[in-house]
Amino acid sequence: MSTLRLTRGLASAYKGAVRSHISRSHFHSSAPANMKILAVLYDGHEAARQEPRLLGTTENKLGIEQWLTSQGHDLIVTSDKEGPQSDFQKHIVDAEVLITTPFHPGYLTRDLIEKSKNLKVCVTAGVGSDHIDLNAAAEKGIQVLEVTGSNVVSVAEHVVMSILLLVRNFTPAHEMIERGDWQVSQIARNAFDLEGKVVGTLGAGRIGYRVLQRLVPFNTKELLYYDYAPLPEDAAKAVGARRVEDLKDFVSQCDVVTVNCPLHEGTRGLVNAELLKSFKKGAWLVNTARGAICDKDAVAAAIKSGQLNGYAGDVWNVQPAPKDHPWRTMKNPLGGGNGMVPHYSGTTLDAQARYANGVREILENYFTNKPQNPANVIIGKSGYETRAYGQRNK
Ligand code: NAI
Repeated sequence: MSTLRLTRGLASAYKGAVRSHISRSHFHSSAPANMKILAVLYDGHEAARQEPRLLGTTENKLGIEQWLTSQGHDLIVTSDKEGPQSDFQKHIVDAEVLITTPFHPGYLTRDLIEKSKNLKVCVTAGVGSDHIDLNAAAEKGIQVLEVTGSNVVSVAEHVVMSILLLVRNFTPAHEMIERGDWQVSQIARNAFDLEGKVVGTLGAGRIGYRVLQRLVPFNTKELLYYDYAPLPEDAAKAVGARRVEDLKDFVSQCDVVTVNCPLHEGTRGLVNAELLKSFKKGAWLVNTARGAICDKDAVAAAIKSGQLNGYAGDVWNVQPAPKDHPWRTMKNPLGGGNGMVPHYSGTTLDAQARYANGVREILENYFTNKPQNPANVIIGKSGYETRAYGQRNK
């Protein structure tokens, strides 16, 4: 059976009403199968069948299926990721390469790493590899790479949009229009200008800095940042950003806080009930970094009480978020303040093209023993290669 015919066969299978969550491609030619590659992606359903640029889906397989199978590799693509009977847990035991996406994270826990006897490299299709137990991977000599920079503009744009929609009270205004109502005062009583406000980013790396850059023309009162890694002096100067070294002090000065640091031991639950007390009353909080950086119940309580005027973002402590997750429906005392969406800020079609190419490049380097782009390496052969996932000696 040729690769092409196999691919066509799979494509027609997708057109059926009932489709399995798993697809398997194995090139049975003279070339022996080299590697078992497991990819945990999200199902794109009808949308992915209609839109081939939805590359990060189980249907479109990052656009790498034909390339991999033609080289004799065994590619397994699934969205089924939870529990011991899931495809993810069944296939991880002997896979050599794991590809995951933050948008539908296959959680590679320490336990699973113990069971992954053949695993050498994990590739994150996107940015943010916290769904992998990085310490366990480092201990086992498993490399973890991500496509650094691939979606940082996509997220920065989403952050700016989220800040504006909260500050300007957009969502309830739109909902009012859809309902057929019209009462300007109801919306205007909680709508403000961004001009003249203090905006701070918690984490000033690639995304945080791009957010600051994009905020310059809004004539904010001040742009602040909190990060253990100070910005280069000229970069801080270019956007007029001031560093605040104490976290409570930082949040207490901000009208808007945007969270842009990775999730790791030092940031899990960082924005909790205690820290929220230090926020300005009625501040807005935007988090497109990772849901678990903010305490779910503390944020919901702060919105309900009005301590926070709004919360927006696309990341959740568990993904997909359960139907009864309080962030889906929480509202401030004036009936607004919720800008939550599913995790998609970093998976625009533009971003998908970039991270799909990036995954291919990383795999190519791995297959041919070429050095990886250092910026992509989170865990290298001898441990952490980045300082972004917490302060440690290495
Ligand atoms: P980056 O590595 O360029 O920057 C991260 C910055 O956070 C670094 O400057 C680091 O020093 C800082 N940081 C780390 N721990 C900190 C702490 N405890 N306090 C203050 N600062 C701290 O990463 P990048 O590209 O800016 O991405 C940041 C995060 O955004 C990713 O790790 C990921 O979790 C999230 N992300 C979300 C996406 C989405 O679709 N919602 C897409 C891409 C990234």
